[in-house]
Amino acid sequence: MALKYTEKTIEHFTKPRNLGTVENANAEATEGSPACGDMVSYTLNINPETLIIEDIKFKSYGCASNIATASIATELVKGKHIDEVKKMGTTEAASELGGLPPVKMHCSVLAINGIKAAIREFEKKIGRIEDEKRIITEKALLNILKNVMHPKHGINIVDNGNIQRIRIDGQDIFIIITLEPDEEMFASNIHDEVMEHLESMKCSHEIMIKIESKTGDFI
Ligand code: FES
Repeated sequence: MALKYTEKTIEHFTKPRNLGTVENANAEATEGSPACGDMVSYTLNINPETLIIEDIKFKSYGCASNIATASIATELVKGKHIDEVKKMGTTEAASELGGLPPVKMHCSVLAINGIKAAIREFEKKIGRIEDEKRIITEKALLNILKNVMHPKHGINIVDNGNIQRIRIDGQDIFIIITLEPDEEMFASNIHDEVMEHLESMKCSHEIMIKIESKTGDFI
């Protein structure tokens, strides 16, 4: 079945803005989507005094919505202070395009998080932030899980109510995710995406994820 894209999405896909590489960039990042293997790279020029993003360009190694969301994201952040960009939600690129099919919502997460990753690297370089020493709390885990979109509903699995339980027990992290009985087909995709996002924390915890259907059967 063909996916329905808004006119604006098609427009940004066929005529992407800010495509390429910024010369003399002082910030850059490449982010990959665990869900599909697509990637996006950004190069930015951030004014070190004003902390305004003066220029940004992207290269996409992904799908049509990867290109469209990265294109609109560059327009959204250009001219903004990095602190303002850091507060942006991961679905803002999709909203600005007039929405994306639910299965493509993770493209918006990738587009926004890629820019935030470049800003984080820049801030480390100029000594504005230190290397994060992540303290693993339930709240920190929920924040990471908010980057995983439910492919059917296009909402992150935390706000969609799929996280049934999180337990941190010493070095072990247990997560129980529930899906509707007719959503079994998404189980392995969600499992892999959760795993890859949690592994990006680079912590030494053992991560165990269990996916159940709401009728109680294990998937
Ligand atoms: Fe993965 Fe678009 S970025 S399908």
